[in-house]
Amino acid sequence: MRAVVRDRYGPPDVLRLATLDAPEPGPGEAVVRVEAASLNMADVDHLLGRPRLARLATGLVRPANLRVGLDVAGTVERVGADVTGLRPGGRVWADLFDSGHGSLADRVCVPASALAPLPGQVAFDDAATVPHSGSLALQGLRAAGPIKAGERVLINGAGGCVGPFAVQIAKARGAVVTAVDHGGKLDLLREVGADEVIDYTRQDVTRSDRRFDVVLDIADTRSLVALRRCLAPGGRYVLIARRIGSFAEKALLGPVVGRLTGTRMGTFAWHPNRRSDLDELAALLVSGAVRPVVDRRYSLDEAAEAFDRLATGAARGKLLITP
Ligand SMILES: NC(=O)c1ccc[n+]([C@@H]2O[C@H](COP(=O)([O-])OP(=O)(O)OC[C@H]3O[C@@H](n4cnc5c(N)ncnc54)[C@H](OP(=O)(O)O)[C@@H]3O)[C@@H](O)[C@H]2O)c1
Repeated sequence: MRAVVRDRYGPPDVLRLATLDAPEPGPGEAVVRVEAASLNMADVDHLLGRPRLARLATGLVRPANLRVGLDVAGTVERVGADVTGLRPGGRVWADLFDSGHGSLADRVCVPASALAPLPGQVAFDDAATVPHSGSLALQGLRAAGPIKAGERVLINGAGGCVGPFAVQIAKARGAVVTAVDHGGKLDLLREVGADEVIDYTRQDVTRSDRRFDVVLDIADTRSLVALRRCLAPGGRYVLIARRIGSFAEKALLGPVVGRLTGTRMGTFAWHPNRRSDLDELAALLVSGAVRPVVDRRYSLDEAAEAFDRLATGAARGKLLITP
Protein backbone atom coordinates (compact mmCIF):
# COMPACT_ATOMS: atom_id res chain seq x y z
CA MET A 1 0.00 0.00 0.00
CA ARG A 2 1.00 3.64 -0.47
CA ALA A 3 1.10 6.09 2.43
CA VAL A 4 2.39 9.59 3.09
CA VAL A 5 4.93 9.43 5.95
CA ARG A 6 7.50 11.62 7.70
CA ASP A 7 10.60 10.65 9.70
CA ARG A 8 10.98 13.90 11.67
CA TYR A 9 9.08 17.00 12.73
CA GLY A 10 9.34 19.82 10.24
CA PRO A 11 7.81 21.73 7.33
CA PRO A 12 5.90 19.96 4.56
CA ASP A 13 9.06 18.95 2.69
CA VAL A 14 9.70 16.28 5.36
CA LEU A 15 6.81 14.34 3.82
CA ARG A 16 7.41 11.48 1.39
CA LEU A 17 5.26 8.85 -0.28
CA ALA A 18 6.23 5.35 0.92
CA THR A 19 5.27 1.82 -0.03
CA LEU A 20 4.30 -0.14 3.08
CA ASP A 21 3.17 -3.71 3.75
CA ALA A 22 -0.57 -4.22 3.28
CA PRO A 23 -2.23 -3.83 6.70
CA GLU A 24 -3.65 -6.90 8.51
CA PRO A 25 -6.57 -6.07 10.79
CA GLY A 26 -6.03 -7.35 14.34
CA PRO A 27 -8.84 -8.11 16.77
CA GLY A 28 -11.21 -5.15 16.99
CA GLU A 29 -9.67 -3.45 13.94
CA ALA A 30 -10.81 -2.70 10.41
CA VAL A 31 -8.93 -1.88 7.22
CA VAL A 32 -10.50 1.00 5.31
CA ARG A 33 -9.89 1.66 1.64
CA VAL A 34 -9.46 5.43 1.64
CA GLU A 35 -11.66 7.20 -0.92
CA ALA A 36 -10.77 10.71 0.25
CA ALA A 37 -8.98 12.53 3.06
CA SER A 38 -8.70 16.23 3.90
CA LEU A 39 -6.31 18.50 5.80
CA ASN A 40 -6.96 20.48 8.98
CA MET A 41 -4.81 22.93 10.95
CA ALA A 42 -4.31 20.10 13.45
CA ASP A 43 -2.52 18.14 10.68
CA VAL A 44 -0.12 21.06 10.23
CA ASP A 45 0.47 21.18 14.02
CA HIS A 46 1.08 17.41 14.06
CA LEU A 47 3.59 17.73 11.20
CA LEU A 48 5.50 20.56 12.87
CA GLY A 49 5.29 19.01 16.35
CA ARG A 50 3.65 22.11 17.84
CA PRO A 51 2.99 23.17 20.46
CA ARG A 52 6.25 21.72 21.76
CA LEU A 53 4.44 20.56 24.89
CA ALA A 54 2.44 18.15 22.69
CA ARG A 55 5.69 16.29 21.93
CA LEU A 56 5.46 14.80 25.42
CA ALA A 57 2.69 12.67 23.90
CA THR A 58 3.83 12.42 20.26
CA GLY A 59 7.60 11.86 20.70
CA LEU A 60 10.13 14.25 22.25
CA VAL A 61 12.84 14.23 19.58
CA ARG A 62 11.23 12.37 16.69
CA PRO A 63 7.58 11.65 16.04
CA ALA A 64 6.64 8.20 17.36
CA ASN A 65 3.97 7.95 14.65
CA LEU A 66 5.24 8.36 11.09
CA ARG A 67 1.77 8.38 9.53
CA VAL A 68 -0.21 11.56 8.87
CA GLY A 69 -3.82 12.49 8.14
CA LEU A 70 -6.89 12.81 10.35
CA ASP A 71 -10.04 13.04 8.25
CA VAL A 72 -11.02 9.96 6.28
CA ALA A 73 -13.99 8.78 4.24
CA GLY A 74 -13.86 5.34 2.69
CA THR A 75 -15.04 1.77 2.40
CA VAL A 76 -14.44 -1.05 4.87
CA GLU A 77 -12.24 -3.63 3.13
CA ARG A 78 -11.55 -6.18 5.88
CA VAL A 79 -12.42 -6.57 9.54
CA GLY A 80 -10.51 -8.39 12.31
CA ALA A 81 -11.86 -10.79 14.91
CA ASP A 82 -14.45 -9.50 17.39
CA VAL A 83 -15.66 -6.71 15.10
CA THR A 84 -19.41 -6.34 15.04
CA GLY A 85 -21.51 -3.78 13.22
CA LEU A 86 -19.08 -3.30 10.31
CA ARG A 87 -18.75 -5.39 7.21
CA PRO A 88 -16.69 -5.21 4.04
CA GLY A 89 -18.19 -2.74 1.60
CA GLY A 90 -19.67 -0.51 4.31
CA ARG A 91 -19.22 3.26 3.86
CA VAL A 92 -17.52 4.89 6.85
CA TRP A 93 -15.90 8.13 8.01
CA ALA A 94 -13.84 9.28 10.97
CA ASP A 95 -11.41 11.75 12.50
CA LEU A 96 -8.35 9.62 13.35
CA PHE A 97 -7.00 12.18 15.89
CA ASP A 98 -6.90 9.63 18.69
CA SER A 99 -6.88 6.50 16.50
CA GLY A 100 -3.36 6.58 15.04
CA HIS A 101 -3.73 9.14 12.19
CA GLY A 102 -2.78 7.80 8.72
CA SER A 103 -5.62 8.85 6.39
CA LEU A 104 -3.13 10.10 3.76
CA ALA A 105 -2.79 6.63 2.24
CA ASP A 106 -4.73 4.26 0.05
CA ARG A 107 -5.48 2.00 3.08
CA VAL A 108 -5.61 2.62 6.81
CA CYS A 109 -6.04 0.10 9.63
CA VAL A 110 -7.88 1.56 12.62
CA PRO A 111 -9.88 0.49 15.68
CA ALA A 112 -13.30 -0.43 14.32
CA SER A 113 -14.87 1.64 17.13
CA ALA A 114 -13.44 4.81 15.53
CA LEU A 115 -15.53 4.37 12.37
CA ALA A 116 -19.03 5.82 11.96
CA PRO A 117 -21.41 4.82 9.18
CA LEU A 118 -21.61 7.30 6.32
CA PRO A 119 -25.03 7.68 4.68
CA GLY A 120 -25.13 6.73 0.99
CA GLN A 121 -26.37 10.21 0.03
CA VAL A 122 -23.13 11.86 1.16
CA ALA A 123 -20.32 11.83 -1.41
CA PHE A 124 -16.94 10.64 -0.11
CA ASP A 125 -15.29 13.92 -1.15
CA ASP A 126 -17.79 15.97 0.87
CA ALA A 127 -17.60 13.63 3.86
CA ALA A 128 -13.80 13.70 3.99
CA THR A 129 -13.80 17.47 4.59
CA VAL A 130 -15.92 17.30 7.71
CA PRO A 131 -15.02 15.07 10.72
CA HIS A 132 -12.31 17.09 12.51
CA SER A 133 -13.25 20.68 11.70
CA GLY A 134 -17.01 20.08 11.51
CA SER A 135 -16.93 18.52 14.99
CA LEU A 136 -14.97 21.49 16.39
CA ALA A 137 -17.53 23.90 14.90
CA LEU A 138 -20.45 21.87 16.26
CA GLN A 139 -18.97 21.48 19.73
CA GLY A 140 -17.89 25.13 19.90
CA LEU A 141 -21.38 26.38 19.06
CA ARG A 142 -22.95 23.85 21.40
CA ALA A 143 -20.74 25.15 24.22
CA ALA A 144 -22.44 28.53 23.76
CA GLY A 145 -25.76 26.91 24.68
CA PRO A 146 -28.78 26.54 22.40
CA ILE A 147 -28.85 29.15 19.66
CA LYS A 148 -32.28 30.68 19.18
CA ALA A 149 -33.64 31.80 15.83
CA GLY A 150 -32.75 35.43 15.23
CA GLU A 151 -29.81 35.53 17.64
CA ARG A 152 -26.79 37.48 16.40
CA VAL A 153 -23.77 35.19 16.11
CA LEU A 154 -20.23 36.39 15.40
CA ILE A 155 -17.72 33.87 14.05
CA ASN A 156 -14.22 35.35 14.47
CA GLY A 157 -11.58 33.80 12.18
CA ALA A 158 -14.31 32.26 10.04
CA GLY A 159 -12.40 31.70 6.80
CA GLY A 160 -10.23 28.72 7.79
CA CYS A 161 -10.99 25.04 8.22
CA VAL A 162 -13.53 25.29 11.05
CA GLY A 163 -15.25 28.61 10.34
CA PRO A 164 -17.26 27.79 7.19
CA PHE A 165 -18.83 24.85 9.07
CA ALA A 166 -19.59 27.10 12.05
CA VAL A 167 -21.24 29.70 9.78
CA GLN A 168 -23.46 27.06 8.16
CA ILE A 169 -24.39 25.32 11.42
CA ALA A 170 -25.29 28.66 13.04
CA LYS A 171 -27.40 29.56 9.98
CA ALA A 172 -29.13 26.17 10.22
CA ARG A 173 -30.09 27.12 13.82
CA GLY A 174 -31.70 30.31 12.49
CA ALA A 175 -28.99 32.74 13.62
CA VAL A 176 -28.04 35.98 11.90
CA VAL A 177 -24.35 35.42 11.24
CA THR A 178 -21.48 37.89 11.01
CA ALA A 179 -18.19 36.36 9.87
CA VAL A 180 -14.78 37.98 10.42
CA ASP A 181 -11.72 37.20 8.29
CA HIS A 182 -9.90 38.93 5.43
CA GLY A 183 -9.17 39.06 1.69
CA GLY A 184 -10.63 36.44 -0.63
CA LYS A 185 -11.92 34.46 2.32
CA LEU A 186 -14.75 36.99 2.68
CA ASP A 187 -16.28 35.87 -0.64
CA LEU A 188 -16.17 32.26 0.54
CA LEU A 189 -17.97 33.29 3.73
CA ARG A 190 -20.71 35.06 1.77
CA GLU A 191 -21.06 31.95 -0.40
CA VAL A 192 -21.63 29.69 2.64
CA GLY A 193 -24.37 32.00 3.90
CA ALA A 194 -22.87 34.63 6.22
CA ASP A 195 -25.31 37.55 6.46
CA GLU A 196 -22.48 40.01 6.89
CA VAL A 197 -18.69 39.83 6.63
CA ILE A 198 -16.07 42.01 8.29
CA ASP A 199 -12.46 42.36 7.15
CA TYR A 200 -10.37 42.32 10.31
CA THR A 201 -7.54 44.17 8.55
CA ARG A 202 -9.87 47.15 8.03
CA GLN A 203 -12.21 47.08 11.00
CA ASP A 204 -11.85 46.01 14.63
CA VAL A 205 -15.21 44.48 15.48
CA THR A 206 -14.52 44.85 19.21
CA ARG A 207 -14.22 48.64 18.71
CA SER A 208 -17.49 48.99 16.78
CA ASP A 209 -20.85 49.59 18.42
CA ARG A 210 -21.99 46.10 17.39
CA ARG A 211 -23.17 43.64 20.04
CA PHE A 212 -23.63 39.89 19.57
CA ASP A 213 -25.54 37.24 21.50
CA VAL A 214 -22.89 34.62 20.71
CA VAL A 215 -19.22 34.99 19.77
CA LEU A 216 -17.38 31.87 18.57
CA ASP A 217 -13.71 32.78 18.50
CA ILE A 218 -11.56 30.67 16.18
CA ALA A 219 -8.89 33.31 15.47
CA ASP A 220 -7.91 33.48 19.15
CA THR A 221 -6.12 36.80 18.79
CA ARG A 222 -7.86 39.03 21.35
CA SER A 223 -8.05 39.45 25.10
CA LEU A 224 -11.15 38.81 27.21
CA VAL A 225 -11.52 42.52 27.88
CA ALA A 226 -11.60 43.36 24.15
CA LEU A 227 -13.99 40.50 23.35
CA ARG A 228 -16.32 41.44 26.18
CA ARG A 229 -17.02 44.74 24.40
CA CYS A 230 -18.85 43.05 21.55
CA LEU A 231 -21.12 40.87 23.72
CA ALA A 232 -24.75 41.89 24.23
CA PRO A 233 -26.13 41.70 27.80
CA GLY A 234 -26.37 37.99 28.66
CA GLY A 235 -24.16 37.17 25.64
CA ARG A 236 -21.99 34.06 25.40
CA TYR A 237 -18.36 33.89 24.27
CA VAL A 238 -16.66 30.57 23.42
CA LEU A 239 -13.01 30.13 22.45
CA ILE A 240 -11.73 27.34 20.19
CA ALA A 241 -8.23 27.55 21.59
CA ARG A 242 -5.09 27.63 19.43
CA ARG A 243 -2.63 28.72 22.13
CA ILE A 244 -2.10 27.22 25.58
CA GLY A 245 -1.78 30.65 27.23
CA SER A 246 -5.02 31.86 25.72
CA PHE A 247 -6.78 28.61 26.65
CA ALA A 248 -5.69 29.13 30.28
CA GLU A 249 -6.77 32.80 30.23
CA LYS A 250 -10.22 32.07 28.86
CA ALA A 251 -10.78 28.92 30.97
CA LEU A 252 -9.69 30.52 34.27
CA LEU A 253 -10.56 34.21 33.90
CA GLY A 254 -13.49 33.85 31.46
CA PRO A 255 -16.02 32.75 34.10
CA VAL A 256 -14.88 35.57 36.43
CA VAL A 257 -15.19 38.29 33.76
CA GLY A 258 -18.50 36.76 32.70
CA ARG A 259 -19.94 36.88 36.22
CA LEU A 260 -18.80 40.48 36.71
CA THR A 261 -20.29 41.65 33.40
CA GLY A 262 -23.51 39.62 33.12
CA THR A 263 -22.21 37.48 30.29
CA ARG A 264 -20.80 33.97 29.88
CA MET A 265 -17.20 33.66 28.70
CA GLY A 266 -14.98 30.63 28.45
CA THR A 267 -13.80 27.69 26.42
CA PHE A 268 -14.69 23.99 26.29
CA ALA A 269 -13.19 20.51 26.41
CA TRP A 270 -12.98 19.25 22.87
CA HIS A 271 -13.94 15.61 22.21
CA PRO A 272 -12.56 14.26 18.90
CA ASN A 273 -14.51 11.85 16.72
CA ARG A 274 -17.63 11.64 18.88
CA ARG A 275 -20.09 9.31 17.17
CA SER A 276 -23.18 11.39 18.00
CA ASP A 277 -21.50 14.48 16.48
CA LEU A 278 -20.65 12.62 13.28
CA ASP A 279 -24.28 11.44 13.06
CA GLU A 280 -25.50 15.03 13.54
CA LEU A 281 -23.06 16.31 10.91
CA ALA A 282 -24.16 13.54 8.52
CA ALA A 283 -27.78 14.70 8.93
CA LEU A 284 -26.74 18.31 8.18
CA LEU A 285 -24.94 17.12 5.03
CA VAL A 286 -27.89 15.00 3.89
CA SER A 287 -30.33 17.90 4.40
CA GLY A 288 -28.04 20.27 2.50
CA ALA A 289 -27.79 22.64 5.50
CA VAL A 290 -24.03 22.12 5.41
CA ARG A 291 -22.27 22.15 2.03
CA PRO A 292 -18.51 21.63 2.27
CA VAL A 293 -16.32 23.94 0.23
CA VAL A 294 -13.33 22.28 -1.45
CA ASP A 295 -10.51 24.61 -2.42
CA ARG A 296 -8.29 22.12 -4.26
CA ARG A 297 -7.79 18.40 -4.71
CA TYR A 298 -4.36 16.76 -4.52
CA SER A 299 -2.98 13.26 -5.05
CA LEU A 300 -0.92 11.50 -2.35
CA ASP A 301 2.36 12.48 -3.97
CA GLU A 302 1.28 16.15 -3.89
CA ALA A 303 0.58 16.10 -0.12
CA ALA A 304 3.47 18.47 0.72
CA GLU A 305 2.02 21.07 -1.68
CA ALA A 306 -1.38 20.78 0.03
CA PHE A 307 0.17 21.21 3.50
CA ASP A 308 2.03 24.29 2.23
CA ARG A 309 -1.16 25.86 0.92
CA LEU A 310 -2.93 25.32 4.23
CA ALA A 311 -0.01 26.38 6.44
CA THR A 312 0.47 29.67 4.53
CA GLY A 313 -3.21 30.62 4.89
CA ALA A 314 -3.77 30.50 1.10
CA ALA A 315 -6.59 27.91 1.10
CA ARG A 316 -10.15 29.06 0.38
CA GLY A 317 -11.97 25.98 1.71
CA LYS A 318 -10.79 22.46 2.54
CA LEU A 319 -7.93 20.69 0.78
CA LEU A 320 -8.81 17.19 -0.38
CA ILE A 321 -6.23 14.44 -0.81
CA THR A 322 -7.30 11.38 -2.76
CA PRO A 323 -5.29 8.20 -3.38
N1 LIG B 1 -9.78 23.99 21.55
C1 LIG B 1 -9.56 22.76 21.19
O1 LIG B 1 -9.84 21.85 21.94
C2 LIG B 1 -8.98 22.49 19.84
C3 LIG B 1 -8.97 21.21 19.36
C4 LIG B 1 -8.45 20.95 18.10
C5 LIG B 1 -7.94 22.01 17.35
N2 LIG B 1 -7.92 23.26 17.87
C6 LIG B 1 -7.36 24.40 17.12
O2 LIG B 1 -8.44 25.15 16.64
C7 LIG B 1 -8.04 25.83 15.46
C8 LIG B 1 -9.11 25.61 14.43
O3 LIG B 1 -9.17 26.66 13.56
P1 LIG B 1 -9.02 26.51 11.99
O4 LIG B 1 -8.51 25.17 11.68
O5 LIG B 1 -10.26 26.99 11.36
O6 LIG B 1 -7.84 27.57 11.82
P2 LIG B 1 -7.46 28.35 10.54
O7 LIG B 1 -7.73 27.51 9.34
O8 LIG B 1 -6.09 28.89 10.79
O9 LIG B 1 -8.50 29.58 10.51
C9 LIG B 1 -8.35 30.73 11.27
C10 LIG B 1 -8.74 31.90 10.40
O10 LIG B 1 -8.63 33.10 11.18
C11 LIG B 1 -8.04 34.11 10.34
N3 LIG B 1 -7.44 35.13 11.18
C12 LIG B 1 -6.13 35.35 11.47
N4 LIG B 1 -6.01 36.42 12.28
C13 LIG B 1 -7.26 36.89 12.50
C14 LIG B 1 -7.78 37.98 13.25
N5 LIG B 1 -7.00 38.82 13.93
N6 LIG B 1 -9.11 38.17 13.25
C15 LIG B 1 -9.94 37.34 12.56
N7 LIG B 1 -9.50 36.29 11.83
C16 LIG B 1 -8.18 36.07 11.80
C17 LIG B 1 -7.03 33.33 9.53
O11 LIG B 1 -6.66 34.02 8.36
P3 LIG B 1 -5.14 33.89 7.78
O12 LIG B 1 -4.69 32.47 8.06
O13 LIG B 1 -5.26 34.16 6.31
O14 LIG B 1 -4.36 34.88 8.53
C18 LIG B 1 -7.81 32.07 9.21
O15 LIG B 1 -8.60 32.23 8.04
C19 LIG B 1 -6.72 25.22 15.03
O16 LIG B 1 -5.65 26.09 15.35
C20 LIG B 1 -6.61 23.99 15.87
O17 LIG B 1 -5.28 23.64 16.20
C21 LIG B 1 -8.45 23.52 19.10
